[in-house]
Amino acid sequence: MATKQTQFILAEGVKPEAGLKKALGMSRADVVAEISRSGLKGRGGAGFPTGLKWKLCASAQGLTKFVVCNADEGEPGTFKDRVLLSDHADLVFEGMTIGGYAIGAQTGVLYLRGEYKYMLKQLEEALAKRREQGLLGKSVLGKDDFSFDIEIRLGSGAYVCGEETALIESMEGQRGEPRNRPPFPVNTGYMDHPTIVNNVETLVLAARIMAEGAEKFTAFGTEKSAGVKLFSVSGDCKKPGVYEFPMGITVAELLTEVEGEGAKAVQVGGASGKCVPASQFDRSLAFEDLSTGGSIIVFGPDRDMLKVAENFLEFFTEESCGQCTPCRDGNVKLLEGVQLLKQGSCSVSHLKELTALGETMQIVGKCGLGQSSANAFLSIVENFRSELLAYEYVNAE
Ligand SMILES: Cc1cc2nc3c(=O)[nH]c(=O)nc-3n(C[C@H](O)[C@H](O)[C@H](O)COP(=O)(O)O)c2cc1C
Ligand code: SF4
Repeated sequence: MATKQTQFILAEGVKPEAGLKKALGMSRADVVAEISRSGLKGRGGAGFPTGLKWKLCASAQGLTKFVVCNADEGEPGTFKDRVLLSDHADLVFEGMTIGGYAIGAQTGVLYLRGEYKYMLKQLEEALAKRREQGLLGKSVLGKDDFSFDIEIRLGSGAYVCGEETALIESMEGQRGEPRNRPPFPVNTGYMDHPTIVNNVETLVLAARIMAEGAEKFTAFGTEKSAGVKLFSVSGDCKKPGVYEFPMGITVAELLTEVEGEGAKAVQVGGASGKCVPASQFDRSLAFEDLSTGGSIIVFGPDRDMLKVAENFLEFFTEESCGQCTPCRDGNVKLLEGVQLLKQGSCSVSHLKELTALGETMQIVGKCGLGQSSANAFLSIVENFRSELLAYEYVNAE
């Protein structure tokens, strides 16, 4: 099976540290303005405007501030940050340093997914080299009023710790549970100091935008979803891998690139995303339509969609942090329902109750995990209803 690795559309010919050098020649406010002008939205899934996040943190009261790079990458089917960290670590650290300059931080923390521990040595070596080159440490690149260094913290394998407030709790040595928001991390983050938490890809794009200028970025994508995006594509296609495409590419166009044209469904956004049937493959991958942190899982014609739903729900019953009842118990109930369907003992009326439960979970979950854990189940019920009910009829005989 051929695997295509990361291909940057934008970065052809970009010199190392060009973005950092340019940023340090500008005022902090102008750096934030340039990122805002690019229309960059966070690539971790929620799509929050990066320039606005940086502006809010820059204007937050406090002498001590932090930049956190969210490298927890636990969403099933997502592996694009892994490629950035292993092949383009300097761009990640450059983006963190630019972010640090923009908000007035002294420290950056790379929160690395526990399963990526094998990269730790390589990343520490890259940081040591940057210190030697004056790209980190006291007076970065000779700039008197900017000292910045980066440390690495390892996660311990909990998916919920990718949620930014749970991540901060984990960094503080607490159990990784999401906090109530507000207050938001830009005001009250790590150790209660103003903190920006950004995805690995977001920070890489920030470095590239500073190097290339906002216009080069906005030349790609749609009005509401500027620029390019990395997609990690897996499943039933001939060319799985990590691809960079302009935002707004349709599902059908992506499938052509990865040679997965025969697919009957595509899971956009991982376990917490939506299952898109073939009849909707003309939809676009963009914040205004199908939003994704990057996970694309292709399901071929022979895939059993009930098993797909079961698999995702097993994941969520394991990964719910248990703080709130709808998520802790709701995912268990949905999983039990799917298993009843498999045994042919789930009535249509119970399926309706499960659907109502899933819709309630979308509203009342305390964090994004509980709010999105029913998404795949609900979209499979909506789009593959006859396939699910066939279980009942077949097994009830
Ligand atoms: C359960 C859960 C898991 C998450 N996992 C990640 C993750 O692995 N990486 C990530 O960047 N964002 C993840 N997020 C989103 C973060 O909370 C946050 O929005 C993101 O790190 C902000 O960065 P951005 O603005 O650059 O996208 C997760 C959210 C939830 C609810
Ligand atoms: S929604 Fe789920 S993961 Fe989020 S806080 Fe509640 S129980 Fe924890």
